[in-house]
Amino acid sequence: EERIPFYGTHQAGIITPAQNFIYFAAFDMTATGSKALQKLFRAWTAAAAAMSEGQPVGDESGNYNLPPVDTGESAGLSPSRLTITFGAGPSLFDDRFGLGAKRPPSFTDLPAFNGDQLEPQWCGGDIGVQVCADDMQVAFHAVRNLARLARGTAVLRWVQEGFQRTAAADPKSGTPRNLLGFKDGTANPAVTNDQEMNKVVWAQSSDGPSWMAGGSYMAVRRIRMRIEIWDRSTLKDQEDTFGRYRGSGAPLGAVNEFDPVDLTAKDKSGNLMIPADSHVALARGDGSVQILRRSYSYSGGMDLKTGQLDAGLLFISFQRDLFKQFVPLQQKLAKNDRLNEYILHVGSAVFACFPGTSKNGYIGEVLF
Ligand code: HEM
Repeated sequence: EERIPFYGTHQAGIITPAQNFIYFAAFDMTATGSKALQKLFRAWTAAAAAMSEGQPVGDESGNYNLPPVDTGESAGLSPSRLTITFGAGPSLFDDRFGLGAKRPPSFTDLPAFNGDQLEPQWCGGDIGVQVCADDMQVAFHAVRNLARLARGTAVLRWVQEGFQRTAAADPKSGTPRNLLGFKDGTANPAVTNDQEMNKVVWAQSSDGPSWMAGGSYMAVRRIRMRIEIWDRSTLKDQEDTFGRYRGSGAPLGAVNEFDPVDLTAKDKSGNLMIPADSHVALARGDGSVQILRRSYSYSGGMDLKTGQLDAGLLFISFQRDLFKQFVPLQQKLAKNDRLNEYILHVGSAVFACFPGTSKNGYIGEVLF
């Protein structure tokens, strides 16, 4: 199916199997007042619903003396499984929009983590819009037209494109590999299991403000990879860094990608097969804290000062509660993960992604 319905109990683009491309956009409001915000959300909802069906953002007037309503570059293209997922950043919950009292108590900017090297140009945003599609032109068209509809109300703060292998390159749809060459996403919770999604991903009304029930909190981290250093490290070191084999993706000591991870397995000399400071050992821990990862690789040209590629992972995860899930995980990783030698967190943002809406409603209506 080329089309993913925009309307529903939950927003699309969260438990939706990852499309080939992402174009992430963070916006800042320039207008103030809740009326302006509601008007923007209404316009974005209509546009997003139309684009998800492969339609332009509005009917053309045909007037030669006016700019066309839609920018036109996706005319005739399939919807390409386009999803557009909207979320509010912590900064939206302030006096500008009378939303101070609506902020979920546990929804704030992330604390600083060990080793963070955040650059302001990759951080924050009043509103986050995750656009994913199997075609980059379709994704670009969506962000461009949302930005255009926002003119006078909101401006782009930062954007980042991302990719993974396409379905054409991997018809069997195996787990995609990140730019360090390892399969990434193997141990994700099952999106087809409603019970698990309610436990890990969807905010419940008992969690806090009832308006977030059915929504999800998104963590975004732009994580640069020191690929030149990685490329000079040995295969043994690379596999010990993750705790999995590069080829098969199997846990060290096991055979197949989806074999159980046994963090106590030892080799003949009594050493742990999966090092205790490996990424998998630390991220898994006792298994009690889970998140849904939905990351993409990014390539942002090159660093003109060093001649090195600016490439890495646009890490995205969804969780029911940032401070019970993402934060403790990242605190552990930031402190001890072997992977830290090869990565640098340069961007950070969090968004409260609203529950889904229906044809008569609009995205974010739950705030008003
Ligand atoms: C697992 C790569 C950052 C959380 C993995 C795996 C790889 C990987 C290759 C093993 C395969 C899999 O289960 O998907 C990376 C890279 C990162 C990164 C390259 C940065 C550039 C993060 C961050 C978090 C995280 C920031 C969360 C704070 C996890 C979790 C698992 C995992 C929860 C599953 C562990 C398990 O239960 O076995 N990651 N990761 N990762 N990662 Fe990361």
